[in-house]
Amino acid sequence: MDVTLRPLNNDNAEFKQLHKWCKNKFVYEWFEQRVLSYDEIVKKYRNKLLKNKQKLFIIQYKNKDIGLVQIYKFKNDINLDELDYFKNIYEYDLFIGEEEYLSKRIGTNTVQLINQIIYYEYLADAIILRPFKRNIRAIKCYEKCNFKPIADYDGKDTLGNPEIISVLLNTKKH
Ligand SMILES: CC(C)(COP(=O)(O)OP(=O)(O)OC[C@H]1O[C@@H](n2cnc3c(N)ncnc32)[C@H](O)[C@@H]1OP(=O)(O)O)[C@@H](O)C(=O)NCCC(=O)NCCS
Repeated sequence: MDVTLRPLNNDNAEFKQLHKWCKNKFVYEWFEQRVLSYDEIVKKYRNKLLKNKQKLFIIQYKNKDIGLVQIYKFKNDINLDELDYFKNIYEYDLFIGEEEYLSKRIGTNTVQLINQIIYYEYLADAIILRPFKRNIRAIKCYEKCNFKPIADYDGKDTLGNPEIISVLLNTKKH
């Protein structure tokens, strides 16, 4: 398969690469809404690796590092009753950090791969994704992978600015 995942390493070369990717507007506009310094990147990802609450993987395309995914248990902090039915829901965030790899259906293949891992290794029964509603490209990619929009809510970006968030659900049946 052209798309593979490998665990993120706790080393400077890895953090440098993340810093380079996260400086791109097409990444940070959907994540941090600002450029993080190298030290902020190291602190952020080192903490995540140490806490081990999120599983962090580098996305590779034909063995080249092109992006990141962080996978974690979904907490129903938005009180959507229809999610009560599920017992083990996961959520994730991903980005492709190399511009020339965007909009080439690599995201679609990556999402399908991540879903397989979540269903068959983490034994989830559903997956939630929560992009900004105006992130048309991401939503189109997720819908191609059988994610269905189930709600929108008024949220905030990481700077505290208002942002409409879409909730998309994928269930194991698909
Ligand atoms: C979101 C992301 C992972 C999707 O991966 P991708 O490889 O770019 O997406 P794909 O090519 O698989 O699918 C995107 C679809 O949206 C379409 N698209 C792209 N830009 C679009 C636009 N401005 N308006 C409408 N459709 C658009 C593409 O044509 C493609 O559809 P198609 O396969 O039917 O042609 C990737 O774009 C990315 O990392 N973006 C930056 C960070 C980000 O937004 N992360 C998600 C946060 S929730």
